[in-house]
Amino acid sequence: GRMPRVSFLHPQGRSGEVELNLTLLEAAKTLGFELNHDCGGNASCTTCRVEVQMGGDNLSEIDFDEQDLLDREALSEPWHRLGCQARVLGDVVVRVPETKWVQPTSASSGEVGKRGTGLP
Ligand code: FES
Repeated sequence: GRMPRVSFLHPQGRSGEVELNLTLLEAAKTLGFELNHDCGGNASCTTCRVEVQMGGDNLSEIDFDEQDLLDREALSEPWHRLGCQARVLGDVVVRVPETKWVQPTSASSGEVGKRGTGLP
């Protein structure tokens, strides 16, 4: 049979065919798109979160761990899914929130240069 096509909507997003039953996180990696996954795919961080645009029925059912985390983060609408938990069962299009995609550059070092501005 045909492999499911997964599309990640994002400025650097990718789309392509992947093996059945991969998680969205694994599918992203396969397609060369590095979806965030701060907790390592353990349903405890939501940085892998995506918004389902099409084909929500082609993702695995939300299990207890995923629902629990989504509820805690007030992401209860059905289009929110965790990329590390949702498995690809058919064609699907998901949007990756850009705010979750800021590269982890020197977020803390930005303040360093502001010292010693001549004030006593
Ligand atoms: Fe942390 Fe998915 S990677 S919840």
